[in-house]
Amino acid sequence: MRALVLGADGPVLARAPVPRPGPAEVRLRVQACALNRADLYMAEGRRHGDAGGPGAILGLEWAGVVDAVGAEVPGHVRVGQRVMGSGRGAFADYAVADWGRVLPMPDGLEPAQAATLPIALQTMHDALVTHGGLRAGASLLIHGASSAVGLMALRIARCLKAGWVGGSSTNAEKRQRLAGLGMDLVVDPSVSGWSGQVLDATAGRGADLVVDMLSGPSINETLAATAIEGHIVNVGRLAGRAGSFDFDLHALRRVRYSGVTFRTRTREEVRRITASMLRDLSGPLKDGKLSLPVDREFTLEQGAQALAYMCANGHFGKIILRVA
Ligand SMILES: NC(=O)c1ccc[n+]([C@@H]2O[C@H](COP(=O)([O-])OP(=O)(O)OC[C@H]3O[C@@H](n4cnc5c(N)ncnc54)[C@H](OP(=O)(O)O)[C@@H]3O)[C@@H](O)[C@H]2O)c1
Repeated sequence: MRALVLGADGPVLARAPVPRPGPAEVRLRVQACALNRADLYMAEGRRHGDAGGPGAILGLEWAGVVDAVGAEVPGHVRVGQRVMGSGRGAFADYAVADWGRVLPMPDGLEPAQAATLPIALQTMHDALVTHGGLRAGASLLIHGASSAVGLMALRIARCLKAGWVGGSSTNAEKRQRLAGLGMDLVVDPSVSGWSGQVLDATAGRGADLVVDMLSGPSINETLAATAIEGHIVNVGRLAGRAGSFDFDLHALRRVRYSGVTFRTRTREEVRRITASMLRDLSGPLKDGKLSLPVDREFTLEQGAQALAYMCANGHFGKIILRVA
């Protein structure tokens, strides 16, 4: 089969054996896959949990048709079924994944649209609901709102009837687009003092919940923009993996600060995340309320170009690789 693998000089299209599903795994014929930020790190040679490294097939998210199932896969996942999901080795003609990462593809959805959803849905349901405890009427700040997971946070927040929803983007055009999607305030996190705008917009209170895709040097303004006894969920480190942290401000605002990642989660934990996301969101998912914009499509052969395009940060929404 064709596969986009990490070669000595970066990602390259190569031939690879069709993978065999293990007892708890599903194999699918991939129709489309979507890029995620972690693909960029893996394309640089970094590992993502136990995935990646020299010779690894890149890619983490796909949509396609089930082609084979292992002996322990529950009966609700069947050969011939249209599915979407996450798992390593996505950028190829065939991929395998634990059955607990596989979701039914909603009727009427094209594979290129379906491939945009699994990681954003799982990540943001886990961050907003399981960790963040988002309640109807609560205020939410999405820090890094134009990212794919940020856009999904807005969609989920609206489905769950959150109150005020603000966001951040360093790009003026994207700030306009986010406002057009119904965000109540969009700040520029590269201009210091943005936390004041959040406080002004929330009657001095700050956001009850922040999902933070940026971290890095913006963390102290993020603390300032969070309500007393609010909660920050650290989802990404786009602006920096380390920085100075104002411990006194943290204590003063009595903020709960949680970190989340899939890299250290067990198979059982991921199965639970998928099941609880489906329990809460399968209705709006079927109704098309949780879609993400597709920014641009490439072919599998153009995988390296697609990764370079993501690296340039001009996109708004998901970047797709068409496979079949
Ligand atoms: N914890 C988890 O389980 C989990 C799962 C999935 C993703 N993530 C993380 O979530 C983040 C977003 O992932 P994604 O795949 O949704 O990304 P994405 O769609 O590629 O997000 C791209 C956007 O991020 C912003 N950005 C990039 N570099 C930045 C910088 N230095 N400073 C400020 N903003 C910057 C830019 O927005 P503007 O141009 O609008 O500023 C850019 O357009 C990543 O950090 C990723 O690792 C975490």
